[in-house]
Amino acid sequence: MHFFHYRNGELYCEEISVLKIAQEVKTPFYLYSYKTLLRHYLAFDTAFQGIPHLICFAMKANSNLAILRIFIREGAGLDVVSGGELYRALKAGADPQKIVYAGVGKSKEEIRYALEAGILMFNVESGQELEAIDELAGQMGIKAPIALRVNPDVDPQTHPYISTGLKKNKFGIDISKALDHYRLAKKAKNLQILGIHSHIGSQITETGPFVEAVKRLAYLLDELKREDIVVQYLDLGGGLGITYNDEEPPHPQKLAEALTPHMAKMNCTVIFEPGRVIVGNAGVLITQVLYTKSTTEKNFVIVDGGMNDLIRPSLYGSYQAIQHVMLKDKQATTHTVDVVGPICESGDFLARDRPLPVCSAGDLLAVMSAGAYGFSMASNYNSRPKVAEVLVKDGQYYVIRQRESYEDLIRGEAIPAFLR
Ligand code: LLP
Repeated sequence: MHFFHYRNGELYCEEISVLKIAQEVKTPFYLYSYKTLLRHYLAFDTAFQGIPHLICFAMKANSNLAILRIFIREGAGLDVVSGGELYRALKAGADPQKIVYAGVGKSKEEIRYALEAGILMFNVESGQELEAIDELAGQMGIKAPIALRVNPDVDPQTHPYISTGLKKNKFGIDISKALDHYRLAKKAKNLQILGIHSHIGSQITETGPFVEAVKRLAYLLDELKREDIVVQYLDLGGGLGITYNDEEPPHPQKLAEALTPHMAKMNCTVIFEPGRVIVGNAGVLITQVLYTKSTTEKNFVIVDGGMNDLIRPSLYGSYQAIQHVMLKDKQATTHTVDVVGPICESGDFLARDRPLPVCSAGDLLAVMSAGAYGFSMASNYNSRPKVAEVLVKDGQYYVIRQRESYEDLIRGEAIPAFLR
């Protein structure tokens, strides 16, 4: 449920006309609804109120400082995966004691930075990383809090690029080797074992894979107890899916109902790292039609937003719904079109073979469900400045990230003297 809706055939974000914002901010831009963001966060949080839990929003889904602050104000922690994300998290005002840090390739500098910041725990993905953290913590004269990211070999039945909990994936430590790694961690002088972590994949639309993962982790938990390794946190990662098209993912409440019986007796604080389910349907990309053209094969609608702004369709072939902002100006007849961007790649499309009310130059289109992995995956390819981000709250809108300028594009570049 989100607060993008039509009023007299005109798209509104909460109480504001999208056309009005587009006229003032110019296109393309990302547009987020505060009310939706808050609602989604609270829905997740409330669903698990029966058990001790901490929600660490997965900021890779959307790392804008203002958006992070919304969740932080509600008591959220953050899941980070790089030094850059940790920097943003701290700038947004996150409590370091609510930050968890995953990722298969943490550099020494990043580990040191996180130790200095005093994060809640590292979700460690390999034996060598464990050794590196132990060594660095030793040098700093502190104990590093860790969980092992365990790969439970559960099939999340999602797109292969975003399933992470299978044996063939690069993530985590094989569950059959987890006990050995915990023994190593226990022996290490500078490590403090705090938890077990697992994240099986993303855009998961059933509760089954989560339940299966929890069962496997519960078994590991028992094995650990037998060796006097007591963990305080069970971090189940993120992954709950959203409706892009016709998917029917479970409501967080349903996930809670499916998981709680398995977790109640574990005596742990459960950590969740939801990303997409919180922000996905709370954001849209507004883009304008520049031109239309038809070949013998296709009708193309060429818009000012491209794969550098929203790469999901190009990268995963994923479906993003597209709607006219001014639907009232449109006839009921539809054309089947490819909505494509200005980038010099055939793979630069936002939709393919999509029936849409006829589009003309100047029309505004809303690419729906773009709040997660939209701006955060944007690039400057083709030297296109990154677009603006706008947040609507209580009948007002706020530019929470300015559109980049051409100067921003070359910041940090230098022509060496020999070329002058
Ligand atoms: N925790 C960890 C350790 C993760 O790797 C991820 C996502 C999450 C939490 C959050 O998952 P979510 O709740 O958002 O599903 N770019 C892809 C998605 C990649 C997800 C990577 N990891 C996409 O646009 O679909």
